[in-house]
Amino acid sequence: MRTTTQPHPLAPADVERILRSLVPPNVAVAALEIEEASRRAEFAAGRECARVALARLGQEAGDIGMEADGAPAWPAGIVGSLSHSQGLAAATVARSEDLAGLGLDLVRARPLPRGSEELFCTAPEARWLRQVPDPERDLMTLILFSAKESVQKGARYLLGRLPEAHEIELRLVAEEPVFTATVESCDRHVWRGRHAFDGAFVFTAATGLRSR
Ligand SMILES: CC(C)(COP(=O)(O)OP(=O)(O)OC[C@H]1O[C@@H](n2cnc3c(N)ncnc32)[C@H](O)[C@@H]1OP(=O)(O)O)[C@@H](O)C(=O)NCCC(=O)NCCS
Repeated sequence: MRTTTQPHPLAPADVERILRSLVPPNVAVAALEIEEASRRAEFAAGRECARVALARLGQEAGDIGMEADGAPAWPAGIVGSLSHSQGLAAATVARSEDLAGLGLDLVRARPLPRGSEELFCTAPEARWLRQVPDPERDLMTLILFSAKESVQKGARYLLGRLPEAHEIELRLVAEEPVFTATVESCDRHVWRGRHAFDGAFVFTAATGLRSR
């Protein structure tokens, strides 16, 4: 995985362009740089992204509280997700009449420790990763990790709890930056997602589709 350790080279507007390429048109996105390396600053930046994204959806934000498990408490009729990592915060939001759920994750690109995939991969996912050619495998492992976190965050609102990584079966596609997922005990919904890598960050977004 060829990565940069420089500060994030993209402006928030470029990050928003990447995020928009990952989600359907009825999803609003927002991204911000986090100016100070503190938990308080990343929390505030995440909430500010949420407010901006909600305004883009035409929705008054008010205070976005926190559920007991740390999940954002979205206004009634809204699904959404937040993520922040090393200087960057982002949010995605949509109307719950359009989508069953949304998950977003961004992660600074760096190889995960060898063998760590056993902690979050199912057997089919681990088999799929093993057939990825060596130079690409570290990146695909990180993308799979991040995609699962996206699905976890989105499915939390349907299950009432964050699903375990092994309750999610994720399928990446070799030639395209897309994935699908199913979540145990939540089998009425299919998750579709997309991923992107800009040299510094991996971005993943998952969309829970309403069953018809
Ligand atoms: C909750 C979790 C998914 C957050 O992901 P993360 O990569 O640590 O951090 P991110 O910056 O991407 O996301 C943090 C945001 O997620 C949101 N979040 C926190 N708990 C959440 C939950 N239970 N459900 C949905 N969203 C949640 C919050 O908005 C949080 O930001 P905030 O505290 O500033 O509001 C993760 O910490 C976690 O607990 N994962 C489960 C462990 C696991 O299975 N790991 C393997 C994954 S493949």
